[in-house]
Amino acid sequence: MSSPSASTITLPPGQSVLPIRANGVHVVDSPELPQHVAVIMDGNGRWAAQRGLRPTDGHRAGTENIRAAIEAFAERGVRCLTLFAFSTENWKRPRPEVRGLMRILSSTIDREIRPLHEAGIKLQYIGRIDALDIRLRRKINEAIELTRHNERMTVCVAFNYGSRTELVDAVRRIVADGVHPDAITERMLSDYLYTRELPDPDLIIRTGGDQRISNFLLWQAAYAEYVFSETYWPDFSERDIDHALAAYAQRTRNFGGRPANGE
Ligand code: IPE
Ligand code: IPE
Ligand code: MG
Repeated sequence: MSSPSASTITLPPGQSVLPIRANGVHVVDSPELPQHVAVIMDGNGRWAAQRGLRPTDGHRAGTENIRAAIEAFAERGVRCLTLFAFSTENWKRPRPEVRGLMRILSSTIDREIRPLHEAGIKLQYIGRIDALDIRLRRKINEAIELTRHNERMTVCVAFNYGSRTELVDAVRRIVADGVHPDAITERMLSDYLYTRELPDPDLIIRTGGDQRISNFLLWQAAYAEYVFSETYWPDFSERDIDHALAAYAQRTRNFGGRPANGE
């Protein structure tokens, strides 16, 4: 963290939001700050290719950015951060890359779990955990257990996550539970998703320059705002985070209705 002023969210001129200080950093306690930010951490492969490195080196560099990014979002008052790290479609990648990604998740948990716990971060997981190696599963579950009472911010890791798979899993469980068709509501379906304990994302950031969703939180993102950043994930900095939050602060969210002061 540099100076507090470097961490201040730039708001549009004339916006009447009172910055408050927390941990020596300005944060914005208002609807202009998203409660839940979800990040599609893309661009590791291109970051590596630019340097003549292998994709796995890019993924490793990407994880080195995670602690700083989590801390930056937490300092600004974001309550929940979901990080898309591996999709159900990423199994299509070459085997050494997939194996590398599994190892990287494992070593990242080993390295980061203590500092994150001490920083008051509660860890959660969304995705098909059953397809992962038993030792990795155990490690993820231990990390969730260790941090379950932390309250500063929830960090949800989406690993082996795909939105369509999530919806299929939900429908299967609804049918298995013998739910009557008339009992199915939007609320109930939400409660059958992996994300049942999380609020819907307010802001989805995709790094790496592509402007697509890639099977991420399709249901939950119905009214999310999107920010697409050209920066590759390993280089995604506090400055980029402030740009994304500032862009979000300028959006008007209608949820299908009229703006609050509309005619
Ligand atoms: C994102 O980085 C991480 C995963 C999908 C696992 P990529 O590996 O997709 O990076 P690019 O898109 O090839 O640059
Ligand atoms: C999305 O990135 C998934 C993650 C960042 C984990 P991809 O690189 O897999 O997305 P596509 O294939 O370019 O759409
Ligand atoms: Mg990619």
